[in-house]
Amino acid sequence: MIDTVRWLDSKHNILSSIPENTESLLPGKLRIIDQTLLPGKLEYITTDKPEEIFQCIKRLSVRGAPAIGCAAALGLAAVSGKSNTLVKKTFLNELCKTSEYLASSRPTAVNLSWALKRCITKIENSKETRLKELKKILTVEALSILQEDISMCLKIGKNGLALLKNGDGILTHCNAGALATGDFGTALSPLYAAHKKGFKITVYSDETRPLLQGARLTAWELRKAGIKVISICDNMAGQVMREGKINIVIVGADRIAANGDTANKIGTYSLAILAKYHKIPFYVAAPYSTIDISIPDGQRIPIEQRSPNEIAVFNRKRILPKSVEVYNPAFDVSPTGLISGIITEKVILKPPYARSIKEFMRKTASIASS
Ligand code: MRU
Repeated sequence: MIDTVRWLDSKHNILSSIPENTESLLPGKLRIIDQTLLPGKLEYITTDKPEEIFQCIKRLSVRGAPAIGCAAALGLAAVSGKSNTLVKKTFLNELCKTSEYLASSRPTAVNLSWALKRCITKIENSKETRLKELKKILTVEALSILQEDISMCLKIGKNGLALLKNGDGILTHCNAGALATGDFGTALSPLYAAHKKGFKITVYSDETRPLLQGARLTAWELRKAGIKVISICDNMAGQVMREGKINIVIVGADRIAANGDTANKIGTYSLAILAKYHKIPFYVAAPYSTIDISIPDGQRIPIEQRSPNEIAVFNRKRILPKSVEVYNPAFDVSPTGLISGIITEKVILKPPYARSIKEFMRKTASIASS
């Protein structure tokens, strides 16, 4: 178990699900692992301050699409729990402002705005007018987002297991593991399931320049679980494939458009092309909260541009000549034609994705509203 994102209640209980007795839920705080310190130190940040939550997301103390959605929802509940207004309309206005602010911390992963919107809608639709109760409703909603995320990740693991066999070599990029979700991860969840089943697998983990999520985080959590992991530089993937070491590529996603085009950590697109060339299946693993059917294709997915210093500075030293410009997009889009399947919590979606995604989202929406 890796407790990436949790709720700290007024009695200092650390929660990942809705408790039977909700009396001590509030006041509460968001608690996250500070991933910028891993693998050196495992430390936590506990906060109910909007600016701090914003910065935690922006500087990647908490990161990974589902994890930032969960953190933003719990963060919103922690901030709003301190509101001293007695008027529902004012409470709702404050809520919307904080939500817009937190949503602006990172643009690509749709889980962030999805989770915040879900919390706001819950309060908007509630007939409750007592502020104490509204704050509790909000916190329970945020906790249910976390609880559902953990259970969806487990199901993704079970579904993805069908694609693996004993002895497989699996290539992954960035970190789409327990550190990027409530627990278990998306792309890494089938690997945890395979390990639990006794399969001997070898995971090749791209280092993932510039911020090294693969080298620092994926390697850390897989080692912790006792899974064999071999770290490679991003530019070695083609060679490792040519040597026949890779049976399957599994990556996560930050946003999947209605046609299946998938945004994920920069470098994923190159991997998808390499996999196609070497005839290696290339799978994306993601829950429904990562699918954005309001966007027809990948061209409309906003790509986060990050600070030039992430590339220009390494180990606190500038590695580039002074006047050299830097281009630093944090994500890229793998077109639908390169994707063998999308492992979700229900089924493995297959092409044509416009149809399979539509059907999946229709079924998911009807279950959610029933
Ligand atoms: O910039 P990051 O570290 O937040 O990027 C994370 C990724 O690209 C992950 O692969 C994606 O969010 C899926 S996490 C289950």
